Amino acid sequence: MTYSRFFGVAVAVVFFAAAAFSAQAGELVTYKIVDETIPQSLTGKAGDPVKGRKTAINRKKGNCLGCHVMPIPEQADHGEVGPPLNGVGSRLGAAEMRLRIVNSKMINPDTIMPAFYHIDGFHRVQEKWKGKTIISAQDVEDIIAYLVTLKGK
Ligand code: HEC
Repeated sequence: MTYSRFFGVAVAVVFFAAAAFSAQAGELVTYKIVDETIPQSLTGKAGDPVKGRKTAINRKKGNCLGCHVMPIPEQADHGEVGPPLNGVGSRLGAAEMRLRIVNSKMINPDTIMPAFYHIDGFHRVQEKWKGKTIISAQDVEDIIAYLVTLKGK
């Protein structure tokens, strides 16, 4: 069994678990993971890069600045726990970014990056987060639309 075949099987299981849970929660858009990417837009609509920039730096939403340096001169205090996102649009495509934002733990189970579009049905969850994702499916697409504009090295 090749690695990619193995990964495909593992992913299919997670996909169905997510689908089943979403039917129950009635909120989560289902998506398909292919080789550490989510190729399809979650909403079927293009994201809005201007909104995406706002959502990414909103401390109550993406709060990406909490862990990433970004080209956002109007805000101080960029975290450095994660890699800088300057130039991320030259390193990663939208499909790769999508899985990282939806649920980075699918790529690195030990990451501290939150799963922004994931409902955790198996562990302890604070009451206010029960059945809710941190950001909406459209927020994910808006943030991707912004990140792909960050070109450079
Ligand atoms: C709590 C810290 C934390 C927050 C908040 C966070 N990230 Fe991350 N992020 C990380 C870490 C750490 C990594 C490195 C990869 C890993 O841990 O597996 C990472 C990796 C990434 C990557 C891959 C970068 C590369 O060059 O490979 C992208 C893209 C990314 N984050 C986007 C975001 C976006 C967009 C947000 C906000 C919606 C965000 N992150 C919020 C910690 C965070």
